[in-house]
Amino acid sequence: MMNSDLLIESLDLNGLHKLASRFVECLPRRMTIGLVGTLGVGKTTLVQAISTAIGIDRADVTSPTFTLLQSHHGGDQTLHHMDAYRVADEDEFLELGVEELFDQEQAWTLIEWADRVEDVMPRNSLWVEMRIAQQPDTRSVKIWTSDNELSQVVKTALREMMPKG
Ligand SMILES: Nc1ncnc2c1ncn2[C@@H]1O[C@H](COP(=O)(O)OP(=O)(O)OP(=O)(O)O)[C@@H](O)[C@H]1O
Ligand SMILES: [Mg+2]
Repeated sequence: MMNSDLLIESLDLNGLHKLASRFVECLPRRMTIGLVGTLGVGKTTLVQAISTAIGIDRADVTSPTFTLLQSHHGGDQTLHHMDAYRVADEDEFLELGVEELFDQEQAWTLIEWADRVEDVMPRNSLWVEMRIAQQPDTRSVKIWTSDNELSQVVKTALREMMPKG
């Protein structure tokens, strides 16, 4: 998608919370984030970490596999949490009214299994792919976007978390 993916290896749960905090501190108030990775890899866990960083009670944030959309509010920031796992195709996804969510100011829309609806995701989406890593309870996380400006913001935000050298 672009030539400068960020790769963070071996993030434990603390590391995941650090990542979530940097996102919330540094990224624009309106964002669409596509979450990619196998069953049980930690997509919902990352959404919960982001929610915590926004000031939303993470206990309210459960998997939207069946409800498809859950919306939360923390201060003036809205967080829409979706799961495309059970969405049949892009048309069904659009019928949920996602474009309205994407356009909303002060709102992040986080979509699990977003690779299933990639063709209708906004061009300036941020993509986060999680994979099981070698160490127990760690994940490697790949982050990319085709939006150059956002890419720079993310790189700066995560500089401290990147391996040196
Ligand atoms: N470093 C880590 N990052 C994320 N999750 C972790 C980590 N270490 C352990 N876990 C655990 O892995 C599990 C991830 O489950 P979670 O429901 O977040 O996955 P998911 O990708 O949303 O699954 P699904 O595809 O079913 O939606 C949780 O129990 C979480 O505590
Ligand atoms: Mg999930």
